[in-house]
Amino acid sequence: MSVKNNGATRFFLFLMLLLSAGLLASCDDDDDPSTSSGQADDDDAVDDDASDDDAVGDDDTIGDDDTIGDDDTIDDDTADDDIADDDTTDDDTADDDAADDDTGDDDTDTCLKPNADCTLAETAAEAGFFVGAALPGSTDPGLTVVPTHFNSVTAENAMKWGSLCPLLEQCDYAEADALMDFAAANNLRVRGHALVWGKIPGHGHPGDLETLVNQAPDPYTFLQQAIDDHVRTTVSRYAGRVESWDVVNEPLAAIGSGFEGNIFYRTMGPDYIDTAFLAAHEADPNARLFLNEYFMAYEGPKIEAFLALLEELVDRGVPIDGAGIQGHVYVTEPEMSRLSDFLVAINDLGLDVELTELDMAKNALWDDMLAGRELFDAQADAYDIFATACLSAPACTGLTTWGIDDSHTWLDNVLPFEWFAPNLPLLLDTELEPKPAYFTIRERIAEFN
Ligand code: XIL
Repeated sequence: MSVKNNGATRFFLFLMLLLSAGLLASCDDDDDPSTSSGQADDDDAVDDDASDDDAVGDDDTIGDDDTIGDDDTIDDDTADDDIADDDTTDDDTADDDAADDDTGDDDTDTCLKPNADCTLAETAAEAGFFVGAALPGSTDPGLTVVPTHFNSVTAENAMKWGSLCPLLEQCDYAEADALMDFAAANNLRVRGHALVWGKIPGHGHPGDLETLVNQAPDPYTFLQQAIDDHVRTTVSRYAGRVESWDVVNEPLAAIGSGFEGNIFYRTMGPDYIDTAFLAAHEADPNARLFLNEYFMAYEGPKIEAFLALLEELVDRGVPIDGAGIQGHVYVTEPEMSRLSDFLVAINDLGLDVELTELDMAKNALWDDMLAGRELFDAQADAYDIFATACLSAPACTGLTTWGIDDSHTWLDNVLPFEWFAPNLPLLLDTELEPKPAYFTIRERIAEFN
């Protein structure tokens, strides 16, 4: 993407991104800023002798850790599953009107030709690839067009621990069930999001969790049990229906190379990640299990820390199958080219990867930075970088946009993005019609298959 980009502009963007990360993180009352070393904040460690030794205290720059023993290894082969063989992609929705494939070797009606008259869902399904949308809720008007354009869905909020259980002992699965029913009725693959997330009490996790943990005689054991119960209950409820889970969301600090000092990390150190993955694997051995993270750039300390963490998890036998990479970026974001190397590096660890949360926002400077280009055309170029990086990686199994259409996007309600609302960051416009980025992704899928 050729975008004019001077130093002042980049600094301003960086400030806005920092502000954005800070605000999201601010719901967590102790976001370990990890200014240089990424050390966990010992002052906040719950005084828990059982866990201090190998968990919270000493290590925390990712890469030299010593925690869960190899005994926990589950020598599974789920990481090798070939997603293209998955039933969910072989469904009828792919074939409806475009790819009547009875003609055997005749490929004139394939969706994988340039400019084929196919929807994104049809093209993706034929390629054995997932193109998904996050669903705001079971009554969102955009749901009507989801099966036409997407072959995968994620609940934007409904399956988060704090949405299911606003309080630890007060759970309600009705909304999540409704979205699962919608997916089943329309033959859509489901990504489950997210079993354990340290941000936003009452949303990412139960609102009373931290208090209960801190009051417990043995906080480590209490929290371990709570994670284990929640993960087993939720994953077994949807076993066989959720194809992949974001088991842990955003374990790393916003910047730097350390873990985020949330309630999970402060109490259990990195062990909480192992606990969640082990429970999920036992509850549904066939589900692909992901670690999901967001990044403000696709190179630098956080990228290195994330790769080191993945490697450690693999090395100590944690049943992880893949990494979810968020992509909440600006249309004018520079320096996205490293994304491709990053995805390949994840695949090199033997893990799948998916782009789990894409949206391309505009920003205060977009007029200036786009130099007169149409927003939607520049946005198509930005999406193209992500689509190309994913499709050219050895095992990037899908991409998901964080919303269905431009009439509903979380960016319009979160600072600093909300200053520039409407952000119009998705693949369908407010009338539910495909935008240029939609066709770019469709072409890219065809090109790479
Ligand atoms: C966001 C939702 O879109 C909002 O509706 C909600 O208020 C807060 O969470 N990273 C994630 C997602 O992993 O779960 C977040 O979703 C966006 C950032």
